[in-house]
Amino acid sequence: MAEPSQQVHHIKPADLEAFVQGVLTGNGVSPEHAITVARCLLMADLRGVDTHGSNRIPSYMKRIREKVLDPTAVPELSQTTPVVASVDGKNAFGFVSAHMGMERAIEMAKEFGIGMVSIKHSNHFGMSAWLVDQAIDAGMMSLVFTNSSPALPVWGGKSKLMGVSPIACGAPAGKERPFILDMAPSVAARGKIYKALRRGEKIPTDWALDKEGNLTDDPASALEGVMLPMGGPKGSALSIMMDVFSGVFSGSAFAGHVTNPYDPSKPADVGHFLVAIKPDLFMDLEDFKSRMDYLYQRVVGSDKMGGVDRIYFPGEIEQITRDKRLADGIPFTRAEIDALNEEAKSVGAASLKFD
Ligand SMILES: NC(=O)c1ccc[n+]([C@@H]2O[C@H](COP(=O)([O-])OP(=O)(O)OC[C@H]3O[C@@H](n4cnc5c(N)ncnc54)[C@H](O)[C@@H]3O)[C@@H](O)[C@H]2O)c1
Repeated sequence: MAEPSQQVHHIKPADLEAFVQGVLTGNGVSPEHAITVARCLLMADLRGVDTHGSNRIPSYMKRIREKVLDPTAVPELSQTTPVVASVDGKNAFGFVSAHMGMERAIEMAKEFGIGMVSIKHSNHFGMSAWLVDQAIDAGMMSLVFTNSSPALPVWGGKSKLMGVSPIACGAPAGKERPFILDMAPSVAARGKIYKALRRGEKIPTDWALDKEGNLTDDPASALEGVMLPMGGPKGSALSIMMDVFSGVFSGSAFAGHVTNPYDPSKPADVGHFLVAIKPDLFMDLEDFKSRMDYLYQRVVGSDKMGGVDRIYFPGEIEQITRDKRLADGIPFTRAEIDALNEEAKSVGAASLKFD
């Protein structure tokens, strides 16, 4: 039997969404922006990306209180060419700026086949897949890049320089599941280490080095050290790629200068790069969809290696989790619920209901 702080309770998605909106508006976020942020966090919670969902609320609210994230800022959109736009995030929530950017990219893609949006002076936007989903809901393919604060050494280096910046992209399908790739270029996302720390768990020893450069299973020591890139120089190169497209190109911070979300000294200045693409540029939409369905069937129907029961398409495990959590609720430990309710109490918002 788990100790009380680690006991798991299932929260109804609608209760969680309303709770998060209440905490956000209590901290000065406009109702419109609170809806966007709460929905994006809920999408991560539903897809099982617990590291990038509502549990991040305390750290985001801390940044508002420290005056390094502006809850009232309204990002500004400028049109550069008919298929290119930019957003100055003005230090608003990354969710708000990126949502606005993807909305514009989709509009341009509907009209001209492709839409590209560069975003600067933004903040962490959590799980990239919510942007891929936003595009898929509009019937679009997408590329979703962001940079992030230093957490990885570059290949051959020993101190943090590049971010664990996820690379994400997607494509709609017909009757099968869409393709949704969303992966950090580290062995594991740093949020998984924060989650292990919160839950008092150990981490696998191939995730990170401690500050002396030794392998560690202790999340606190790992957070003082460096994450390990996946695939050695290849993971390191992907992280540099995210910085080229999201940081250098946009006019935001880059080359190790994005502020860590837990550093209260200055705004994060994150950059993002979003592309929406109409899938029927080179063939009928029905042809495209049936080719995607065929690809799905070939992938999941592939011969299985020993010990594997089922092969999944990228994004499929998260979609199955979402279906389950929509029905059963989202699991949170009591310690996580208490931390969220502390936030609610501090601004007089309604607390999170749980059984
Ligand atoms: N905004 C930021 O700065 C930031 C930084 C780091 C991570 N993140 C987020 O953290 C999340 C976690 O990233 P991650 O790299 O740990 O993800 P992950 O390793 O859990 O998954 C990576 C990809 O592999 C696919 N996948 C996983 N297991 C699979 C299997 N058995 N079969 C087929 N496909 C499979 C997933 O669908 C996903 O597309 C992402 O949502 C990412 O956007 C955000």
